[in-house]
Amino acid sequence: MSEKIGVAVIGSGTMGAGIAQIAATAGHKVILIDSNDSALDIAKSSHEKIFARLVEKGKFSETQANEILGNINYHIGLNEVCDCSLVIEAIVENIEIKQKLFSELELILPKNSVIASNTSSLSIASIAASCDFSDRVIGLHFFNPAPLLPLVEVVPSLLTNPIIVDDMVALMKTWGKIPVLAKDTPGFIVNRVARPFYGESIRIYEEGLADFATIDWALKTFGGFRMGPFELMDLIGNDINYTVTETVFKEFYYDARYKPSFTQKRMVEAKLLGRKSGKGYYTYAADAEREMPVENEELGRQIFERVWAMLVNEAADALFWNIASKEDIDLAMTKGVNYPKGLLAWADELGPDKAVEIIEKLRNKFGEERYRVSPILKQKSQLQERFF
Ligand code: NAI
Repeated sequence: MSEKIGVAVIGSGTMGAGIAQIAATAGHKVILIDSNDSALDIAKSSHEKIFARLVEKGKFSETQANEILGNINYHIGLNEVCDCSLVIEAIVENIEIKQKLFSELELILPKNSVIASNTSSLSIASIAASCDFSDRVIGLHFFNPAPLLPLVEVVPSLLTNPIIVDDMVALMKTWGKIPVLAKDTPGFIVNRVARPFYGESIRIYEEGLADFATIDWALKTFGGFRMGPFELMDLIGNDINYTVTETVFKEFYYDARYKPSFTQKRMVEAKLLGRKSGKGYYTYAADAEREMPVENEELGRQIFERVWAMLVNEAADALFWNIASKEDIDLAMTKGVNYPKGLLAWADELGPDKAVEIIEKLRNKFGEERYRVSPILKQKSQLQERFF
């Protein structure tokens, strides 16, 4: 597929505006479409501000910035997409609305164009099924903020033509992205493997072992994570994070490993959404005093190791079920959510047997299905093998 194909991005919100910026920077003519003209105005002025800042910082000359901005055209309605070889959909996360859009698109697009969805939680098969040309539909899952986080999960459905998969992997590389191939299953790689970072941390809090500040401190200090789980949930928004957890739980036929927490549900109900509402696990008023962690090394290490073991188990299980290759699972977590190390490499470093021991202890203590060791992790531990 040529580097300079015409690209349309539909939905000019958080993700669509970012994806349009990436494609325009890579030299494509981009049509950014939204059904709401004020969303388009916001996207346009945010692009202008971003490029003014990038010029100030010396990342681009003024001429280059103007050229990139000139690559983006902002439109209401689908009329302008008919020359595009690639359409990336980033509209509201609703299956009926996405299906309606995809069936409209295939009527006006050239027969060899690709229609991609940036969905985080819907199956690509369910979106593709609304099209006659379902072999041209694929998932391209970017991460927020899209221009800064390099990962793109490339997700073929059962119906996608394999040539399109190769084309999209190659194209994402030309956009400076790091593509990983993921199976069309709930949460793909990142949103599945990351669940214990939040879930197990909340569980530790619910058991009364530590408060939010101490758990955040433990994961940053002993795990090297840039943000603690509660800081991160406040940044993402508890409503968004809770919805992802609940969707993954339901989509996995209520597997206890992904069970959402009452703590986060109540936070959402109380509208304690995090930074955007001024209060979540922490308070964000300018004069608010920040809670101090209990800096007890033994407790801190225990907290880190428990969350680490559950993360490693989840990454191993994704490998066991062939969701992605071991290399891609590790790339996904370091490039999509900035983990300090790939989880499978981290399992090798601290030892798969250590993770198994921690989880089996929890299993003995609580008797819950949540603490189920992945067969591949158990095997690595028993045979004293490594993932890499
Ligand atoms: P957003 O709410 O910021 O933007 C969605 C935009 O789509 C709005 O401007 C809306 O006016 C427009 N829109 C809705 N229906 C439309 C239609 N039929 N035709 C044209 N425009 C329409 O949403 P956001 O956060 O950008 O999410 C978009 C998609 O990306 C969703 O599928 C979401 O699951 C996914 N995603 C979101 C991430 C995030 O962190 N926000 C990360 C990765 C994926």
